[in-house]
Amino acid sequence: MPIIAPSLLASNFLNLEAECKMLNESEADWFHLDVMDGHFVPNISFGPMVIGFIRKATGKICDVHLMIENPGLYAEAFKKAGADILSVHIEACPHLHRNIQQIKSLGMQASVAVNPHTPVEALKDILADIDMVCLMSVNPGFGGQSFIPHTLTKIKQLREMIDERSLKVKIEIDGGVTLDNARTILNAGADVLVAGNTVFSTADPKATIAALKRI
Ligand code: DX5
Ligand code: ZN
Repeated sequence: MPIIAPSLLASNFLNLEAECKMLNESEADWFHLDVMDGHFVPNISFGPMVIGFIRKATGKICDVHLMIENPGLYAEAFKKAGADILSVHIEACPHLHRNIQQIKSLGMQASVAVNPHTPVEALKDILADIDMVCLMSVNPGFGGQSFIPHTLTKIKQLREMIDERSLKVKIEIDGGVTLDNARTILNAGADVLVAGNTVFSTADPKATIAALKRI
């Protein structure tokens, strides 16, 4: 069964406590938390302070997706806030290996996020050092966008790269995941489905999460 990681970017921020409670009671595996700095992406969301509150409201894994420049400056703050998994963007990290070592030395799982235009081949020399790849299936910055179909080819290529070296790296798909395309995404080789609007814009988010889990 896939790992389901609802993105709280699409949740009701006026009632985060209730949203956390709903996810706790649901079959969601992880909380996907999108951090945006207004520089790396053209939007601003939330940072370690809000994640610290969410951490107190759940025992589930906090999967923090940093869409920020200079992530190394903030890795420790996100660890303190309670992140379990930290994704940094390959496009924001000229010294990616150093960033990955820092994340691991802080005791978090390390993940590399890649934008739609970045070929998965760019991950070849970091793949053995990381726990997950967050493959962006939309341009990062906003929820509610449509899945970019070429991502399916990238998932298959990445799955081959991982399997031929018998690595344990997970593939997370982030952006535009719906009940209609989730099965195709999983068949291509994904392990983790992030879902923002698909979960939070439905009348019964818990039922939608259960449906994604069994798709
Ligand atoms: C996009 C974020 C995604 C986003 C997904 O920049 O990284 O996690 O919240 O939202 P949906 O599922 O609505 O595309
Ligand atoms: Zn994300």
